[in-house]
Amino acid sequence: MGNQLVQISTPGKTQTSESLTPAATAAPQFFPTPASGTGGAGKTFYIETFGCQMNVHDSEKVAGVLMARGYRPVENHEDADLVFYNTCSIREKAAQKVFSRLGAFKKQYHSSRKIIGVLGCVAQQEGERFFERAPHVNLVCGSASYSRLSDLLAQIEAGKRRVTGLSLDTDECFETEVTRRDNPFRAYLTIIEGCDKDCAYCVVPMTRGPERSRPSDKILGECLRLVDEGYREIQFLGQNVNSYRDPSPARRSFAELLARTAEIAGISRVRFITSHPRDFGPDIVEAIETHPALCDHVHLPVQSGSSRVLSRMLRGYTREEYLEKIHCIRNAKRDISVSTDVIVGFCGETREDFEQTLSLLEDVEYDQVFSFKYSPRPKTAAGGWADSVPEDEKAARLAELQERQRVIQARRNQALIGREFEVLVEGFQPRLGQAIGRTTSNRAINFPGEPDWVGLLMMVRVTAAGPNSLVGMRAGAT
Ligand code: 5AD
Ligand code: SF4
Repeated sequence: MGNQLVQISTPGKTQTSESLTPAATAAPQFFPTPASGTGGAGKTFYIETFGCQMNVHDSEKVAGVLMARGYRPVENHEDADLVFYNTCSIREKAAQKVFSRLGAFKKQYHSSRKIIGVLGCVAQQEGERFFERAPHVNLVCGSASYSRLSDLLAQIEAGKRRVTGLSLDTDECFETEVTRRDNPFRAYLTIIEGCDKDCAYCVVPMTRGPERSRPSDKILGECLRLVDEGYREIQFLGQNVNSYRDPSPARRSFAELLARTAEIAGISRVRFITSHPRDFGPDIVEAIETHPALCDHVHLPVQSGSSRVLSRMLRGYTREEYLEKIHCIRNAKRDISVSTDVIVGFCGETREDFEQTLSLLEDVEYDQVFSFKYSPRPKTAAGGWADSVPEDEKAARLAELQERQRVIQARRNQALIGREFEVLVEGFQPRLGQAIGRTTSNRAINFPGEPDWVGLLMMVRVTAAGPNSLVGMRAGAT
C-alpha cells in the first residue's frame, strides 16, 4: 500500500511529511459547494491524521465536506469545536496511539462541548466498542462510509449524542467535489478503494472493504480540472492501484489510464502508489517507457524474499515470480527506480527465510525500502497463529536489514553524482537558503535556491549524495 507512514497534526487540514514546507501554506483550492446543509456555520474544526497517503487524502476530502457545511479550519484543537482523528490500525502501535491521544484529549477537555469524531481504520475495526473505551467520542466512521459523513454531521448538529457509519457493504468510492487539497502542486486522486487480496497479516480488507474502482472517464475529467487549477503533478492512489478495473464501458486498463493521463497537456508528472506484484504487468512498464510524464518510479511491496514465507503470507507470488517483474522493470528503456515494503519476523520466519530477504535486497538493489516488524492484528488470518519470532529478534532483524539497505542506497545514490535531473521544487528552507525538490524517480534533493522557485520545474546537477537524499546545484530553468 505504499507507505511512508506518517502522523500529521493539522490545522483543520492535512499535511504530508513531504508537504511540511512553505508550499503547504499556499492558498488551497475550493470547489463549488454542494447543497449539503450549513449546520457548521460559524463553527471550527481540526483534523489529526495518522497513516498512509490514502488516509492523508481522505482527510483532504473530509476537510472539504466540513467546509461545505460551513465549518472553518483552525490551527489547533484547542480552538476547534469539532476535532477529528483519522486513524491507522495497520500495526498495533499505530492503533494504540489513537487511544492514548483520545485519553489525553479527554483529560484536557472533560467538561467541554467539543465534538470528537474518530475516522478511518481503527474506527472501522472497533466500531460501537469505541464508545465503551472512549465515552467522550461522538462520531465513529470508517472510510467506506465517508459518503454519509454530511448526514452523520447533520444528526450531531441536531443534538444526537452518538452516531456511527460502519457499513462495509458498499460499491461506491468516496468522491467529493469539495476536496481541500493541501499541496498546491501535487494532487492526490483516489482511483480505486479497498482491497480484495486478503494477505494473512493485514487488516486493510477488513477496514477499507472490497476493491472498487472509479470510472476512467470521471478520473480523466477530474485530471483535466486539476490541471486547470494549476496542479503539475497527479498522484493516483489505491491500496493496490494497479488492480484498477474500469467499471465504465471504455474498459481502460490501468496502463491505458496512466497513458491517457500522461497525455493531458499541462500535466508534468503522473505518479501511482501502491502497486501489487500480482497485478503488475509489462504494459505498465511500456507506458512508462513511452510517456515522459509518467514518473520513473514503481513502489512494489515484496514483504519477504522467502517463497515459503510469501506463501504463508498469502501474497500470491513466489520470490522468482517477483524477480521476473523486477527484471522487466530493470530492462526498460528508461531507468525506473524501485521501492518496496518488507515485514520482518512474520510468524514462522526462520533465520534462513530472513537471509533470503537480505539476499533479495542485494539482488534487486532497491532505491528505497520501508521495513516493519510484524505486528499481529485481530481478525486477520495470521492473527490466530503463534507470533513465533521474539520481539528482540524482530528488532535485531529489522536493524540488520536497514543497515544492509543503507549501504545499498548510499552506493546507488553516489552513482548519481554529476548527473542532472528534472526537479519539482516543493519547498524552501529560509534558514538554510535551500530549495527542496523531488526528482521524477522520487528522490529528495536539496540545493541552494530562492523562495519563489517553489512550484517550478528545473534541472539540478547532483553534487553529493547520502543514503536518503541528494545535494545539488541548479543547472538551468525549464
Ligand atoms: N505488521 C507489520 N507490517 C504490516 N504491514 C501491513 N500489515 C502489517 C502488520 N500486521 C506493512 C506491509 C504493508 C505496509 C503498508 O505495512 O509491509 O505493505
Ligand atoms: Fe496490501 Fe495485502 Fe493489505 Fe491488501 S491485504 S492492503 S494487498 S498488504
